[in-house]
Amino acid sequence: MRIAILGAGAGGGLPQWNCGCPNCADARAGRLPQMTQSSVAVSRDGRDWVLLNASPDIRAQLAATPALAPPGLRGTPLSHVVLTNGDIDHIAGLLTLREKTGFTICATRDIHQILDGNPVFRVLDPDLVARAPLDLDRPVTLAGLEITPFCVPGKIALFLEGETVDTTAMGEQTIGLQIRDGGRVLYYLPGCAALPDWLVARLEGADLLLFDGTVWDNEDMPRSGTGAKTGARMGHLPMSGPEGSLARLAGLRARRLFIHINNTNPALNPASPERAALRAAGWELTHDGMEITL
Ligand code: MLT
Ligand code: MN
Ligand code: ZN
Repeated sequence: MRIAILGAGAGGGLPQWNCGCPNCADARAGRLPQMTQSSVAVSRDGRDWVLLNASPDIRAQLAATPALAPPGLRGTPLSHVVLTNGDIDHIAGLLTLREKTGFTICATRDIHQILDGNPVFRVLDPDLVARAPLDLDRPVTLAGLEITPFCVPGKIALFLEGETVDTTAMGEQTIGLQIRDGGRVLYYLPGCAALPDWLVARLEGADLLLFDGTVWDNEDMPRSGTGAKTGARMGHLPMSGPEGSLARLAGLRARRLFIHINNTNPALNPASPERAALRAAGWELTHDGMEITL
């Protein structure tokens, strides 16, 4: 299986347009590599590809990835787009994928409802762009890869939030994907609010894990002065702490990489103690343009 990391960043990317935090300033000055927003492409044979989330940066991401160039005068090697939630960083790129080329959007019914409920997505010609429902825990074969969606703790999309929000809800609003090619297993969870025992046990089957790297700890944003929101309020489990991903997933045999990394995450700085701790725990950060063969 080939895995192309199109965008390693969380919503906003690095630098984020309105952010002057040290990481964003470093990225503007060329001291840190920039990150586009959360999107991955996977392929069994290097010819047909499945896009996992369509970020607002998809146009530049496709242009930077030779394997995803049109195979002929018009067309795309992308046969399917799978969505793991309904946030802007994962759906807005669909609007770029107009212009009369066919593919299939695969998502849970809850996420399809967001697309169906917003007329701007009608720009994707229904005669060419199909919308297929995903059932939780039911594998589908897309471009020769067996993909099983499953529910993970998470919240509804930011723009759907009401007065109160269940940030660790279990339902169709946030899913993880198990992607299997023969005996090789990738897990992709770019958003995950908690790691209960059953989920840790499930991930023990992974050869490769791409996991939510939004925040180092709950207080990244308040501490950096960039905002009041905690990681928990955003529906993202921190890397650090007793319930964080480093501790909870310490026993996995998989190669472990963080993805959907927010620009305020101190571990982005290669000289930081947070980065050293992450490395010592056996984790890596993904970066834009990274290609992994599994
Ligand atoms: C998130 O992952 O928390 C979202 O991308 C937030 C957003 O849509 O800005
Ligand atoms: Mn996001
Ligand atoms: Zn920033």
